[in-house]
Parts: sequence; C-alpha cells; structure tokens
Amino acid sequence: MRPLIVGNWKMFGLRAALAEITRLDTRLGADPQAADVILCPPATLLQAASALGAARVTLGAQDCHYAPEGPFTGDISAEMAAEAGARYVIVGHSERRHGHGETSAEVCGKARGAKRAGLTPIICVGEAKPDRDAGRALSVLEEQAHASIPPEFSAADFVLAYEPKWAIGTGVVPTDAEIIEAHLFLREKICATRARTPILYGGSVKPANAGGLIGLAEVDGVLVGGASLKADDFFEIIKAGAHAKAGV
Ligand code: PGA
Repeated sequence: MRPLIVGNWKMFGLRAALAEITRLDTRLGADPQAADVILCPPATLLQAASALGAARVTLGAQDCHYAPEGPFTGDISAEMAAEAGARYVIVGHSERRHGHGETSAEVCGKARGAKRAGLTPIICVGEAKPDRDAGRALSVLEEQAHASIPPEFSAADFVLAYEPKWAIGTGVVPTDAEIIEAHLFLREKICATRARTPILYGGSVKPANAGGLIGLAEVDGVLVGGASLKADDFFEIIKAGAHAKAGV
C-alpha cells in the first residue's frame, strides 16, 4: 500500500521557502515514489504554494475555524483555506490543544467545518508524558478520539494521526511496541468500522527512523514537523516510507 506522508511546517517559512516545495516536486518527478505527499505550509503561503502547480505535492492547512465565516479575529475558515489551495487541514494538533487550550469538542467542530468545505481533516490525538507515565495513555486517546471525531464521519472523511505530545519536537520516539499498541487500540476502538481510514504516526520522524516507523504494519503513514522543512530531508522520508511499504 502507498503510505501517506504529511509535512507540517508549523510557523516556519517566508516566501523564499516556496523553493523547497518546487525542489520537492522536482525530486518526486525525477524519482517518483509510491507515496501520497501532503504539505501544510503556513496559511500565508498557501495561495503562492498552490500557484506553483506542483504535481506530486498536495497542500493542506494547519488549522481552521469551525464556522464558514464570522467575527473571529485571526482565524481562517476551512472555506478560506480551500480557496487558497488546501485539500487537507490538520485539526487538534497538540500545539493547538495545549498551546491554545483547544478542546476535543472544538476539534470536532473544526473537523465538521473541514468536511463542509470539501477538505479532509487530519485529526490529531496524543497523550502527554504524565498520562503515559500514569498508565493512562490509551484512555486519554480513547477520550480524545471519541470526542474529536464526528460520529457521523465515515472512513473516507478523515485521517487520524497519533502524535504523543512528548515525542513532538523532542527527538524522543516511542518504542515500536508503544506505537503498535496505540495504533491497534485506535483502529479497534475508533476505526473498526472505518477500516480504510489512514492512521498516521507523528513525533520526531526523521530520515533515519522513517523506514522503521512506516514499515510497521499498523502505521499507514507519518506526520512530520521539523524534518519536512527541507525538501531533501522530506524526500528521504518519503522514499524510506515508500520502500518500507513496497509490496505490502
Ligand atoms: P516533529 O513534529 O516532527 O518536529 O516532532 C511533529 C508534529 O508536530 O506534527
């Protein structure tokens, strides 16, 4: 199967960074990999990124509001992101949940907003370190996922990403056993009737560990932060992922 590889640039990237998208698309054109590639630049770059016309790179936004429009200073709606060129949108990233106090109920509204606008939401869930240390990781995941995924959503309506907060930007990656346990749990509890919903892993994915992580049968792809900023690193991750899943 083809892995789904998502890059999240977070709050990095002025116009000059668009050259990285062109470079990535060129490298994927010259050496096509059996992987689906989504890149989520800052909202300010979406329109210009879309105008590049990259054939192998689909664009996503990093967040959206639940409403189509309204008096919400600083927010952007899913419709606005779609018009600017996004086809996907990340919702419920830990930096939104923890940095901006977003609740799972709000994440659920954002996911509905995304679908309304024709976008596919990438819904993130993940426990914090104290939860894991206290043996509460799976119950936190269940609680977040149940409250964040609109119950009416079918398999093709969303992508789920398991992103343990303690692995994001830290260089610390859970053990294979921890990732497998979390993914199997999410598949069974949340996606049993949505078998085709991709479940991604995210947190400190780098070129050196991507093949091993994406090679896990329970992992359908990855959500990459820091290592997606440079086209060459991101390409190595895509390549490692495509090779790891080849023939599966
Ligand atoms: P990281 O971020 O790859 O820099 O750890 C992952 C994410 O936040 O999605």
